[in-house]
Formats: sequence, structure tokens, C-alpha cells
Amino acid sequence: MIKTAVFPVAGLGSRFLPATKAIPKEMLVVVDKPLIQYAVEEAKAAGIEKFIFITSQGKEAIEDHFDSHSGLESILQARGKTDDLTKIRSIRIPEGQALFIRQHEPLGLGHAVWCARHYIQEDAFALLLADDLIQATTPCLKQMVQAYSEEDGNMAAVIDVPKNEVNRYGVLNILTQFGLKVCAKAVVEKPDAATAPSSTAIIGRYILRTSIFEPLGFKKQGAGGEIQLTDGLQTMLGANVPLTGFRFNGDRYDCGTKVGWLQANLALAAADPELRPYLESVMTTLKVPLAG
Ligand code: G1P
Repeated sequence: MIKTAVFPVAGLGSRFLPATKAIPKEMLVVVDKPLIQYAVEEAKAAGIEKFIFITSQGKEAIEDHFDSHSGLESILQARGKTDDLTKIRSIRIPEGQALFIRQHEPLGLGHAVWCARHYIQEDAFALLLADDLIQATTPCLKQMVQAYSEEDGNMAAVIDVPKNEVNRYGVLNILTQFGLKVCAKAVVEKPDAATAPSSTAIIGRYILRTSIFEPLGFKKQGAGGEIQLTDGLQTMLGANVPLTGFRFNGDRYDCGTKVGWLQANLALAAADPELRPYLESVMTTLKVPLAG
């Protein structure tokens, strides 16, 4: 049973400066909701009941976003704006189910995950990186929870990426594949295209055994001088804990980049019945011609 999810939200978001100077990058909006809300809604849909955010200074807006807002709620109530009221109330994480932990220094994803070590009782938990927005009929994490069994050890959602992009990801060395599952014999963080073992890359959805905290606790520096989650997964593979890649059904947008964020906005607008009718005219009437 996967009941706890960890959301690392301590990153600086420097790719989106100056937008992220005073607001967390996880609060960047895609169509009408901040990125972190998509991730939390996906987790809720997968049955998650405890939400652990690994934060840093300047990320308070995330905590506020999932809290109640009595001032705003009473104004909406007084004005009879019941739809808006329902909308903002549904965002709340119920009291006692959200935890905010400070990561003091940006030491890497592996270190961020390790910061949650004292607060997970179950044998396995979910990890969601809000940068990755996934549009799917059955939410990605729900697909993973349904597919996961203890024999899978650690599980990570994977996609195939162009060879020249493998250096942005954790990449699997594949032993076997069966259906949607890929059994890894090794995993390497941000390899060069020339030495990468495959083009099958991990994206920001994981189901992890809590025993991952042990190798992460060694605080070994990996790629980019950071404590890498991928290295923890590799150490566990060496101790015969499997790593299973999961090829989910759905579209993933890398909202950690401007292009991915733009794609996500267009794709979600196209799927929104209110916005869809306007999309074509918006594109064709652009004052800046796209060609040339
Ligand atoms: C992190 C992980 C990497 C993974 C990626 C998915 O990298 O370290 O293994 O493939 O997330 O988005 P980051 O994007 O933080 O550099």
C-alpha cells in the first residue's frame, strides 16, 4: 500500500528567472493551476494520504496554496461565488496530512529524498517531481501503484528520449522487458550520449523502498557533485533490490524547461473545452509570424 508521497520542492528554478525570483518554480502556472497542484492531484488520485514537501527558504507560497484561506473563502461565500469556493476548497490538503521539511542546502535530489527518512512508516512510498507534468487518462502514479508489486523493488516511470538528451536523465541499462515493465541491470545519472547504456530515461515519478534511505545516508557525491537518487538506486541494485522501469500511458511535459512548459500549456489548453475553440485562432492570429 503506497500511502505517502514525497515532493521535492526546494530547487531554485534558475531556468525561469526572473519569474522565479519571488515565487517558487513549482507555483508556475500551466493554464490555470500551479505545477505543484497537478502533482498533488495526481498523488491524491493514486490514493496518497500523506504529503511530504521538501522545501527551502522562499517556498512558503506552496504551503499557503494547500491551506485554507478564510479571508478569501468568506468573501467568495458572501458574493455567492460557490463554484470558485468549491474550487479553492478542493485544493486543500486535509489537516494533519501535509508535512513541510526544510532542506538546508541544495545538495541534490538524493539528499532531498533522504530528508523525509524519519516520517515514512510504510515499506514503500511515492516520489513525484512537479516539473514533470503528465497528461493521462489514468493518472501516471495510479498506473504505477496498480502495476507495482514488492518484487519490483524500486520502480521509476520511464520514457525513450532522443540520444542527444540522455545527459539530462537517469538512464537504464536494460536486462529484460515484459509488457510495460523494464527490468534494469544498472542505472546511470546523466551519462554522455556516447556512453549511455540506452535511451530509456527515468522521469519524475517513482515508487521507492524505504531502504533507499540507507545508501542515500552515505551522502556520496555523484554527477554534478550532487547526492544523486540514481546512485542510491544503483547501490540497491548491487544488493539485489530490483529496479523496474515502467512505461506509463500518457504524455509527459518537462516543465523544468521553457519549451516543455509551453508545450504543456498548449496541450492542456487543447484538452480544455473552454479554451479549445480559441486555440487555433490564437495561433493563426499571432502578430509575430511563426515562419521565418
Ligand atoms: C532528476 C534525476 C534524474 C531523472 C530526472 C527526471 O534529474 O536526478 O535521474 O531522470 O530528475 O526528471 P534533474 O531533472 O533534477 O536534474
